[in-house]
Amino acid sequence: MMNDEEQISNWDSSYALENSDHLWGESHVPYLDNILSEYFTKNNTNILEIPSGDGRNTIKLSGFFETVIACDTSQNALNILKQRISRYRLDNVVVLSENIYDLSFADGYLENVLCWDLLSHLRDPKGAIEILVRKTSIGGIIIGSLLSVGDSTFSEQHNHLEDNVIMYNNKLYYKYYELEQIESMFKTVSNVSVENIVKVSWLEGAHEGFREYEHTHESYVFVLKKR
Ligand SMILES: C[S@@+](CC[C@H](N)C(=O)[O-])C[C@H]1O[C@@H](n2cnc3c(N)ncnc32)[C@H](O)[C@@H]1O
Repeated sequence: MMNDEEQISNWDSSYALENSDHLWGESHVPYLDNILSEYFTKNNTNILEIPSGDGRNTIKLSGFFETVIACDTSQNALNILKQRISRYRLDNVVVLSENIYDLSFADGYLENVLCWDLLSHLRDPKGAIEILVRKTSIGGIIIGSLLSVGDSTFSEQHNHLEDNVIMYNNKLYYKYYELEQIESMFKTVSNVSVENIVKVSWLEGAHEGFREYEHTHESYVFVLKKR
């Protein structure tokens, strides 16, 4: 089976687009609006967004935070993101190539984190979360998402491996979670309080090379506070 390092280049190839300007969509995931209004005050803090992908959520974050540090391992994704940043004339987004397992920031440097749609693609999501916690300052908010077992990709793809895992299109690791698994994982993560875990579903447009038609997603979104 591939490890997380090996699939990084498969993610990168996903952004070599022929028929679209961007892979994941023009507009941010709808639940981001709820998160922003509930947990943040406009314009006074910074946020790490990892992964930024090609930037659908970055644009929204840049209107809300003083600075957005947008990171991904995919150079192709970051190139699309940079084009969007210049198209929207954003001056508060810093774009960096960073791997979540090997972040270059000092411990406690980050004020807040958004980790949307990466942890389900990692073999060690808990290890990645612990790194995010270490890099965040006390009082900082860490938002993340994990695919729910109810997500439609799970029933549509037939390449099932063990334990709620599929290899999407035979090349990308997807693991699906039950609420209880997420709750018990957080019981073993130090220095955080779990502020919320909520199941959300939403409609997405076509993604070139993935599902090229409108579809729904279902994920658990969690909110942690660094103690
Ligand atoms: C499903 S996309 C989500 C992108 C974005 N958050 C969004 O919702 O539009 C997953 C992203 O994770 C990135 N990625 C994969 N492994 C990574 C790692 N170890 N560290 C940082 N980013 C990674 C991929 O390059 C890809 O852009």
